[in-house]
Amino acid sequence: MRRKVTIVGAGAVGATLAERLHSTGLVDIVLVDIPETGSMPKGKGIDMEQAGSVCRSDSRVTGTTDYAASKNSDICVITAGLPRKPGMTREQLLEINAKIVSGVAKKLSETSPKTVLIVVTNPLDAMCYAAWKASGLPKERVLGMAGVLDASRMERLIAQKIGVSIENVFACVLGTHGETMVPVASYSTVFGVPITKLLSDADVNDIIRRSIQGGAEIVDLLKTGSAFYAPSSSIMEMVMAILKDKNKILPCSALLTGEYGLKDVYLGVPTILGDGGLKKILEIPLSAAELDALKKAASSVRQMTDHLSKSPAAATA
Ligand code: NAI
Ligand code: 2OP
Repeated sequence: MRRKVTIVGAGAVGATLAERLHSTGLVDIVLVDIPETGSMPKGKGIDMEQAGSVCRSDSRVTGTTDYAASKNSDICVITAGLPRKPGMTREQLLEINAKIVSGVAKKLSETSPKTVLIVVTNPLDAMCYAAWKASGLPKERVLGMAGVLDASRMERLIAQKIGVSIENVFACVLGTHGETMVPVASYSTVFGVPITKLLSDADVNDIIRRSIQGGAEIVDLLKTGSAFYAPSSSIMEMVMAILKDKNKILPCSALLTGEYGLKDVYLGVPTILGDGGLKKILEIPLSAAELDALKKAASSVRQMTDHLSKSPAAATA
């Protein structure tokens, strides 16, 4: 029997991820959205399945507004949420998405008690915390996707600056998926050589700045909505590491329980992913400045989770 991946949120990121997964033929996919979307998820599912004979995939894609089809999923990905609307504050968006993510995480943990949850909805690190709390799942099975995407953006910038294949580049990005992102230049390399030895300080700083602004750059260009091609391929990387039990080191948002001197906060750190989700958080040596940046990142996430814990509006749906 093929394994099952549920994606909640059949929008830009969710549907693109579903299409990528379907084309591998490895898993069946359940694509869930809210009843207000009517038959839209079903339509997208059938459209993807109709590509099956051409892309040589027998995978099923069940588009639905009912969680029953997602029962006993191996992995569930949460992309459900709202974008910021005119006049809406960040805090209001935080509360609305926390309510959505908490409600979805609770339903998923009830229908798929052994699942690994991958959270994608923004603001990412705070949403991971909300999903972990609401789902009651162990921390090893609630992770957030952002670091793979942010590193991939930094790798593109490095490859293009130096003029080499992106395959020769590795970037290390920790911290939040936001302004307190921590791109670590000293561990970002080309053919094993740190970029700090290959580029001027000005170029390194420019790459760091543009990596942090990577998501905003796409929002400005698209005018409506945010990035979905690179995000969905980054989620794929995590899904495949787990399904294939690869023990792959990927930067993911994970609950810290003392690592890097931080506790009770979700933050982007190097993790080993395989069967069952998180196998280990790696504590890599960091300079005092890098550690300080990680601590600032943790404070910014804590501000949001503290706000949520005091806000009745963000209570589980
Ligand atoms: P979108 O607006 O295209 O899709 C969101 C979907 O969620 C919609 O179809 C909506 O109907 C659905 N939805 C809303 N409430 C729901 C609920 N209670 N249950 C089920 N479905 C529900 O948005 P897009 O572009 O797909 O982005 C989704 C989220 O992912 C956003 O919060 C975005 O900011 C975030 N994102 C995060 C990234 C990361 O690196 N962590 C990268 C890209 C996007
Ligand atoms: C991004 O970085 C919006 O978080 C999303 O593209």
